[in-house]
Amino acid sequence: MVSFSDSDDRRAGFSATLTRWYNHHKRDLPWRHTRDPYFIWLSEVILQQTRVAQGRPYYERFVTTYPTVQALADADERDILRLWQGLGYYSRARNMHKTARYVAGSLAGRFPDSYAELLKLPGVGAYTAAAIASFAFNEKAAVVDGNVYRVLARVFGITEDITTTQAKKTFTTLANELIQVSDDPAVHNQAIMEFGAVQCTPVSPDCLLCPFQQQCQAFLTGRQRTLPVKSKKAAVRDRYFNYLVIRQGDRIAMKERTQKDIWQNLYDFCLVETDEPIEAFRELPEGNLLNWVLQEGILKGLSSERTHVLSHQRIRARFWLIDVPEGRAVRLPEGLTFCKPSDIERLPKPILVADYLKSLHF
Ligand code: ADE
Repeated sequence: MVSFSDSDDRRAGFSATLTRWYNHHKRDLPWRHTRDPYFIWLSEVILQQTRVAQGRPYYERFVTTYPTVQALADADERDILRLWQGLGYYSRARNMHKTARYVAGSLAGRFPDSYAELLKLPGVGAYTAAAIASFAFNEKAAVVDGNVYRVLARVFGITEDITTTQAKKTFTTLANELIQVSDDPAVHNQAIMEFGAVQCTPVSPDCLLCPFQQQCQAFLTGRQRTLPVKSKKAAVRDRYFNYLVIRQGDRIAMKERTQKDIWQNLYDFCLVETDEPIEAFRELPEGNLLNWVLQEGILKGLSSERTHVLSHQRIRARFWLIDVPEGRAVRLPEGLTFCKPSDIERLPKPILVADYLKSLHF
């Protein structure tokens, strides 16, 4: 492997080559037209673990709905989660709201203007602090995300496992050295992320038209597939969600998810979780609930299994539709409330639940 000291020449030209490539190939994205730290922060929170094509309309909706950090701070968390619906990782939305309240309440609505101060904000990590410091204030603080790991691992032939803290230090140090020579750190950072997203892609990087071809260690030694080195992810766990969709007329019983689990503060239906798939209604383990349903309702149908894959779990859901005759006064099981369609529409829901409701022509 070529050590860093042998690669001084390559390092010196890196930022200039990257910037030249960026000026020719960059996509026109809305957050690249602003220096306002609020909009930049918003875009970076939305784009974490999200592709640009998916995140962009969310960014536009958030900017329109909450044009200032004060407006976001003042918003109802439920409305924020509803606008976020479909992006996943809902704790990001809840933390975003907390940060907005802190900036609006304790900092008079002004974001700090340096990397070190930004890092002190609740919910702002090294990546987001570097993004805001560079894009809004032109500070030489390097962003290090998955795109950056990939580009640097390949160009400089770094074989450290990117899931380790040691590798994080190695890549962060190198990335910060590379940005020092740039006279436009905002562009340098946008460029390295864009290069990773568009040119130096995970599976089929466009090496034949790459400006780093002559120096890229991965290309020169045929290791594009093996760099960056990343140890295997933990196995995905299957969870079986048996939803009892209790309906009376056009109202459906909904429940807020208050426990410390996925989809916290989102709304779903009466849920019985099992370790194995349940084929027949009577196999559901919740005796009391089952008796309640059989007494009060009529089982109308069972959906086919719908799956939703998260980073460490696969949710396998089936929906049992239960009609309670109209006019019958029933006491719903704990935590459930009958909601009319217009109220359900406004509730933040997991996509699995929103899609099921759509299939009911709700
Ligand atoms: N992904 C994360 N941040 C981004 C940005 N500023 N531009 C494009 N993709 C991104």
